[in-house]
Amino acid sequence: MFFEEVREADPEIYELMEKELRRQQNHLELIASENFVSEAVLSAMGSHLTNKYAEGTPGHRFYGGCVHVDVIEQIAIDRAKALFGAEYANVQPHSGAQANSAVYMGILEPGDTVLGMRLDQGGHLTHGSPANLSGKFYNFISYGVDQITETINYDEIEELIAKHHPKMVVVGASSYPRAIDFKRIAKMTEAEGCYLMVDMAHIAGLVAAGQHQSPVPYADFVTTTTHKTLRGPRGGIILCKAKYAKLIDKGVFPGTQGGPLEHMIAAKAVAFKEAATPEFKKYQEQVVKNAKVLCKALENRGFRIVSGGTDNHLMLLDVSKVGLTGKEADDTLGKVNITANKNAIPYDKESPFVTSGIRVGTPAITTRGMVEEDMEIVADAIEAALIKKDPVLALAKVAYLTDKYPLYPGLMG
Ligand SMILES: Cc1ncc(COP(=O)(O)O)c(C=O)c1O
Repeated sequence: MFFEEVREADPEIYELMEKELRRQQNHLELIASENFVSEAVLSAMGSHLTNKYAEGTPGHRFYGGCVHVDVIEQIAIDRAKALFGAEYANVQPHSGAQANSAVYMGILEPGDTVLGMRLDQGGHLTHGSPANLSGKFYNFISYGVDQITETINYDEIEELIAKHHPKMVVVGASSYPRAIDFKRIAKMTEAEGCYLMVDMAHIAGLVAAGQHQSPVPYADFVTTTTHKTLRGPRGGIILCKAKYAKLIDKGVFPGTQGGPLEHMIAAKAVAFKEAATPEFKKYQEQVVKNAKVLCKALENRGFRIVSGGTDNHLMLLDVSKVGLTGKEADDTLGKVNITANKNAIPYDKESPFVTSGIRVGTPAITTRGMVEEDMEIVADAIEAALIKKDPVLALAKVAYLTDKYPLYPGLMG
């Protein structure tokens, strides 16, 4: 149905696109940061809007012919503001990393001190890793999780603020399974008189649906990807108080980007409309329910769950307790059509390339339609692969679920 022109023009690429579709259809997708977009979002992304240059913001462009993309971008902005209750939105960041860089560029000076969560305890590269421009240009100080509870150590954040007087505190994570109390951290940043930026990339869909405390009332800046739990196209957005609008716009363009991707902005608008529906709210409730049931089911099968549970869409399994490294578990699951990712656990003794953990998320399988009873089968499949060492059984369990919940039927061929 879709992509026939690619088949005609470039059979080599078409064939690989088809293989990737079959992989997505036949695998259990447990990567917590992935999801499956609607065909409406897919179509908007693949549209002629890609042809348009539109540097600037709606009504203030450096190019002619923006009359229609101006309206599209304004709709995306208005929908993002309404969805999250934000005073201002910039919908141009090409990705989550770009959104974060744009806030830093708009608000900070090189060398400024910033607090961010440690990468090896759940944070993201863009929260101060020395390998990322955030860590190279700014003086990032890291906070982490408590060694016993494996949950965010709020007292440590307070102490580090008092000691280092940062200009900004960055909160948010890539592999943190528990709820984050933004309100509590905002009290600390208000007392210090420094900025609070929340990167809600992972939990944006939950926030939109009221399944997680929203950072928007508390933070000066909120960044997010649009393609994780939010189930939109790959991209980012920045929400902020109206008083920072100009600084944020400048941080995006010309600070860190050139022309916006108007086809992606149109797809973001479509996704925001979808995210405002009662169906989306139900979907997010199911994502969280599924995560809780899967977590318990895996615990019952002998896995140690980091922090003892989950409040959101993901969980971290400590696979060292079943005699594996994260890398071994990741490779073994891959062989039975289960896609997850190796992940450091707090205070991990293994290197970042090996790790002791696996991160497991429910957004994608919930989009396929899976519910609580299916989570027992997902846990059976993981147990069969990693504990019983029975790949045939694991493959059968995966095939049962992927057949029961078809993905993009008729999309290609
Ligand atoms: C918390 C967080 N912020 C930012 C990003 C970066 O997003 P992107 O890959 O779109 O640049 C990620 C991606 O995993 C993330 O988890």
